[in-house]
Amino acid sequence: MIVNPITWKKDHISIIDQTVLPGRLKYEACRTVSQVREAIQKLKVRGAPLIGIAGAYGFLLGIRGFRAKDAAALRREALHIKHRLISSRPTAVNLAWAVRRMFHVFEENASLPRAALLKRLEAEAHRIFREDADMCRRMGAHGAVLLRSGDSVLTVCNAGALATSGGGTALSVFYRAHEQGKRLKVYACETRPLLQGARLTTWELKRHGLDVTLICDNMAARLMQQGRIRAVFVGADRIAANGDFANKIGTYGLAVLARYHGIPFYAVAPSSTFDLTLATGAEIPIEERDPDEITTLHFERPIAPAGVKVYNPSFDMTPAFLVTGIVTEQGVLRRPFSKSIRSMYGRGSK
Ligand code: MRU
Repeated sequence: MIVNPITWKKDHISIIDQTVLPGRLKYEACRTVSQVREAIQKLKVRGAPLIGIAGAYGFLLGIRGFRAKDAAALRREALHIKHRLISSRPTAVNLAWAVRRMFHVFEENASLPRAALLKRLEAEAHRIFREDADMCRRMGAHGAVLLRSGDSVLTVCNAGALATSGGGTALSVFYRAHEQGKRLKVYACETRPLLQGARLTTWELKRHGLDVTLICDNMAARLMQQGRIRAVFVGADRIAANGDFANKIGTYGLAVLARYHGIPFYAVAPSSTFDLTLATGAEIPIEERDPDEITTLHFERPIAPAGVKVYNPSFDMTPAFLVTGIVTEQGVLRRPFSKSIRSMYGRGSK
């Protein structure tokens, strides 16, 4: 059974606290907008599609928890909730995309009695959840076609079930190929500083019986030089109209290495990750996080002198020219991406 990192429980969401994996599988209840915002900021829930889903339920919780004295006060609160949720993390566009969807449903139904409004909002949050799971399945199917039995693949961070409501983005490709009986060897980059690859990707792939090998981030070049990687598959947090995309810090380096070694490099992302308001990746906001994430090993043991200067960008931007293809729920987009992305939207996505 694919792990489910978020569940709606009638009046709250239950999330897996991903900061304590793999040591503990701990569930936590979020009942308020503040709790959802904190869970997103601390990476208890993380991964582009999943923070969108958490944001959608967070919006529902916020409206449920507010007793408005009139329609104007309710609308002010809805705007405030929208802003608080969207500003929890800046890079993954899925968060703003999902919360805006919820706000739109709010606007369209704000004049309904409270119970009916809440019902509409709950239905929309569930729809976002279900659509994401479905997109994961479809990305997996399109991506698995690119793999043959015996292939060795490389990934970074966690673009799996723990980052979505389904089987993941990049990892859904591996799950699907595995289901089809293809023998795969997956190399997972540990993903400093917060070790999503070491802690989360290896955990979920092992649980599902895939052959996974953990490497430190600085070992990817060696593997490629030895001819031991057939393709690289990564997730994405925001894709601009020309195909440039942001993903976990280290992704750009892998794309450069892959190009140098002649290895196909794929981004895997649902349509909720595309931001066509941005012409190029240069406009994608890149989150910078707390220096402690680098100077302290997993928030506990110091590994650098106190007060050392730190630069901690959580994401980087990979230019489209380094990308072989973008696997979406509608198929594999090829270069020139500005054209293939535009025609995908012509086919009915957002
Ligand atoms: O900081 P995180 O753990 O939220 O970063 C996640 C990633 O970079 C993933 O690769 C990305 O969200 C896309 S995959 C679902």
